[in-house]
Amino acid sequence: MNYRHAFHAGNFADVVKHVVLTRILAYLGQKDAAFRVLDTHAGAGLYDLSGDEAQRTGEWERGVGAVLRASFRPEIDALLAPWRQVLDACNPGLDADPAGMRHYPGSPLFALALTRPQDRLLFCETEPGVRAALSEVAQDHRAKVLPTDGWQALTAYLPPRERRGLVLVDPPFEEAGEFHRLASTLAEAHARWATGIYALWYPIKDVRAVDAFQREIARAGIPKTLRIEFDTRAVRQAGVLSGCGLIVVNPPFTLADEIRAVLAALAPVMASDGVGRSRVGWLIPER
Ligand SMILES: C[S@@+](CC[C@H](N)C(=O)[O-])C[C@H]1O[C@@H](n2cnc3c(N)ncnc32)[C@H](O)[C@@H]1O
Repeated sequence: MNYRHAFHAGNFADVVKHVVLTRILAYLGQKDAAFRVLDTHAGAGLYDLSGDEAQRTGEWERGVGAVLRASFRPEIDALLAPWRQVLDACNPGLDADPAGMRHYPGSPLFALALTRPQDRLLFCETEPGVRAALSEVAQDHRAKVLPTDGWQALTAYLPPRERRGLVLVDPPFEEAGEFHRLASTLAEAHARWATGIYALWYPIKDVRAVDAFQREIARAGIPKTLRIEFDTRAVRQAGVLSGCGLIVVNPPFTLADEIRAVLAALAPVMASDGVGRSRVGWLIPER
């Protein structure tokens, strides 16, 4: 497998995914009861934006870099606060100077930072070098870093003992059939644990594959399935990563309104055409 997330860390797609992740974690943390996070494709946990890979693409400059340079209404700042809190923790002095952005956290570090002593986390990562890096930065007795295939983990570790929590599925989309795998594994996982929150990230590059994926998700008929999409240009361009989406099953009741507001604010900031586009709506509503 060639995929290296270090090339893309902190880009627009990471920002969208991690803002959704942090809003879900903020919601779960409102009740005392413990919850579990299963991150099936966890990555390295922390990325050096001054490193060779990030510098070669410069993608983060138009993602997290652009967001840090922008200013937002207080309501949007409040919604971004948990995401921002984790950035600040990884980058001492960032609150005083946006140019101090050096390390972008991955999903495991967002999850570790926004969970409590009673919560538990499982991170799956199959690439040995990436897993070693993750083990270094995710040293926490609440978390386990596993070499388990993330697709198998989706059925093997569900339902969790806590019976509350979030499953993040964020595959590299390098292999043919990954859209179909995402849809079919969701159906299997949901059959084992119907009340969990599932967040599935996907790229918007091959528009026909995205349409087919959404039809397959819709056919699965899982109630409370929310679709979140973000485009960096108002008109989609085939063959380039021009947008991304998340399917969220059983979202917190607050999530759709929150993400609609945040993405509307982020669209002009991270858009490559200065406009961008976002949409948030039910693919399948509550029955
Ligand atoms: C898109 S990156 C993950 C980024 C991370 N979720 C984040 O938001 O920071 C996908 C990761 O999945 C890993 N991977 C690929 N196939 C896998 C599999 N079958 N099971 C678990 N991890 C896998 C890759 O090595 C890569 O680090």
